[in-house]
Amino acid sequence: AQAPRPRRGVVAVRAEAAGAGGGINPAIRKEEDKVVDTVLTGELAKPLTAYCRCWRSGTFPLCNGAHVKHNKATGDNVGPLLVKK
Ligand code: FES
Repeated sequence: AQAPRPRRGVVAVRAEAAGAGGGINPAIRKEEDKVVDTVLTGELAKPLTAYCRCWRSGTFPLCNGAHVKHNKATGDNVGPLLVKK
């Protein structure tokens, strides 16, 4: 059977083990029970802002390009979420 296609506007995320304990987040804000960020689009400084979805950015939640190194090392294909003002 073929997997159902995601609905338009719906993002599917598949978590893979990132360390001995599993999970997708290797190091960001581990002291928090859950990493949640809120973006008020009206307060964005730039017309286009890139937010990290690979959990490797040194400027999380903003993308700093670390996904390029991750993709090269793992064969993954992750990239940022682009938010337009
Ligand atoms: Fe994580 Fe770019 S650094 S998506």
